Amino acid sequence: MWSCVARPTTTWPPVTSAERTFRVGLLGCGTVGAAFEQLLPRHAARVQAITGLRPAISGVLTRAGGAFEAILEDSDLIVELLGGIEPAREYVMRAMDAGRHVVTANKQLLSQYGEELWQLARERGVQLRFEGAVAGVVPVVRVLQESLAGASIDRVHGIVNGTTNFILTEMERTGMTFAQALEEAQRLGYAEADPSEDVDGRDAAAKMAILARLAFDTPVHLSQVHYEGIELIQPDDLEYARELGLGLKLLGTAERLEDGLSVRVHPAFLYPGHPLAAVHGPFNAVTVESDAITEITMSGPGAGGPQTASAVLGDVISAMIPPASTPPTSKNLEIVQDVVSAFYLHLEVADQPGVLAQVAQVLALQAVSVKSVVQKGLGDQARLVMVVHPVLESRFHAAMDLIAGLDVMRAPPRAIRVLEEEFG
Ligand SMILES: NC(=O)c1ccc[n+]([C@@H]2O[C@H](COP(=O)([O-])OP(=O)(O)OC[C@H]3O[C@@H](n4cnc5c(N)ncnc54)[C@H](OP(=O)(O)O)[C@@H]3O)[C@@H](O)[C@H]2O)c1
Repeated sequence: MWSCVARPTTTWPPVTSAERTFRVGLLGCGTVGAAFEQLLPRHAARVQAITGLRPAISGVLTRAGGAFEAILEDSDLIVELLGGIEPAREYVMRAMDAGRHVVTANKQLLSQYGEELWQLARERGVQLRFEGAVAGVVPVVRVLQESLAGASIDRVHGIVNGTTNFILTEMERTGMTFAQALEEAQRLGYAEADPSEDVDGRDAAAKMAILARLAFDTPVHLSQVHYEGIELIQPDDLEYARELGLGLKLLGTAERLEDGLSVRVHPAFLYPGHPLAAVHGPFNAVTVESDAITEITMSGPGAGGPQTASAVLGDVISAMIPPASTPPTSKNLEIVQDVVSAFYLHLEVADQPGVLAQVAQVLALQAVSVKSVVQKGLGDQARLVMVVHPVLESRFHAAMDLIAGLDVMRAPPRAIRVLEEEFG
């Protein structure tokens, strides 16, 4: 772990008076901030060759020291790496209000206050860049904002949380329980001491809100993103699903539907040909689909101090070159909650004749049709594992409620969505 000392406003490293300096005020010096502080001087000469300006840290704010007002006064650009909402929001607003460019990696802030921040950036003619906020070093923000600005995007799928992808990979690979795989992730530094926002899907939901806003030109607030986590995934689900040719991911989806836009995060099984099925361990990946481009997948390390710091530095360098801004949204698509999904269904049932017929009858009542089914085990181990064709989720949940009430059920039913498209 890097270390950095909170400093007031003396340019660091010292520069000669002949050099024209671009002063970077750094707010926060934890995992990412400390790595950024180490990285910047190593690239300063190269950046100077490109831009004519030598970037240098002009002040650092931590809880241990530094004063925001003084750092602001002595900066051309503010890098916000505090995390959380306040005081990050206040400092970012004040920096832009004072005409400073801002670079941040703060997904919680942007997924809840993005619209007012982007508006202020436009009003003040400054840049607010945030590549590090989504999928770490994978340059998906830039690709959506710039490279794909001319494409009409239909859907974005993302594995945008490395912690959960590592846990699911370990569970699939070794047969570990969720708790064991989480412990392993913490031991290896892929999960924080408090991993709740990662494993319950909220971290991924914040990133998907930002991606959806960029891809669909519609304001999307974190509160509009439906999210489910991976805490309830059982090893035997993964084992049975493998027999059906399926692998599990915590999948973020933002897609244009006839009646609006759906943005959601939940575990989903993928068939092996899907471009995201091969993304294992702590990696992130995002697939963008559009008529014009067919499909583009970008993948790479999703987090980590040095990795995120390199995305932040890329933003700082971009801000030093010509202006780019996040334009106001021009659409206001309805956010849709009830979407069509296929499901994997795991039922622990009594080992007696007629059980499958009862379940099939309930499913038929809600127009849920079965694609494949396997019967496993005997006696107390008897199970029905099936995949059903895509159906409106409200109908499926109604069928699940009815199934849960059947006398033949020995445990509550378990269901996980299945991505239907077969690629390749
Ligand atoms: N870590 C990653 O891999 C990663 C990846 C992508 C994006 N991000 C984002 O990057 C940002 C920073 O993450 P991080 O992992 O570097 O966080 P961190 O390790 O917790 O560091 C936060 C830093 O901000 C300081 N700080 C927090 N509140 C403060 C306050 N009120 N006043 C002054 N200083 C304050 C902390 O000081 P103390 O140490 O004294 O508390 C610490 O130096 C977050 O928005 C995070 O979501 C992180």
